Amino acid sequence: MSLGKGAPPAVASLDRVSCPVERDTDRFSVQHEARGLAERAGFPRLAAIEIAIVASELTSNVLKYGVRGSVVVEAIDDPARGPGVKVTAFDEGPPFTDFDQALSDGSDENGPISVSRFANRGGIASGLGAVRRLSDACGWTPEPRGKSVWAVRWLRRG
Ligand SMILES: Nc1ncnc2c1ncn2[C@@H]1O[C@H](COP(=O)(O)OP(=O)(O)OP(=O)(O)O)[C@@H](O)[C@H]1O
Ligand SMILES: [Mg+2]
Repeated sequence: MSLGKGAPPAVASLDRVSCPVERDTDRFSVQHEARGLAERAGFPRLAAIEIAIVASELTSNVLKYGVRGSVVVEAIDDPARGPGVKVTAFDEGPPFTDFDQALSDGSDENGPISVSRFANRGGIASGLGAVRRLSDACGWTPEPRGKSVWAVRWLRRG
């Protein structure tokens, strides 16, 4: 599992969809497009749904923390790993201060969230944890106008 700041694997992209992310309902088109692309790339139904969950969680974070942006889903092929899908969420928000901490369930970038804060914060801080579990590698990269958060899932995991 590769995690943290840095570029995703440099591999050829075969099939690609790009969805604008500006409002909450954009989540549904991202989910639909991600699942469809994953199925076209040969992923079984459950795996394609899991890729849609990854895309959906990254979309939610664009809206919550990144203001607006877009989500790109690509079918990729790596000489060593074979076929895969890469999800990249671009946003205009600030960089991560501590991505590893943000990946932990129940934590934001500043560490574990206290019980008293959970009631009103809108989310249990497990979205990036789900991205981590349902992907084989994930990370983030500074971009000219903001940043991107990316996740890669290979057809053959492990
Ligand atoms: N795109 C982003 N830009 C800046 N900070 C982010 C971004 N995505 C996540 N974070 C930070 O990482 C933390 C964890 O994100 P995560 O998605 O796990 O939880 P959440 O969005 O707070 O809640 P949930 O996803 O469970 O609804 C967030 O609380 C936030 O501090
Ligand atoms: Mg989230």
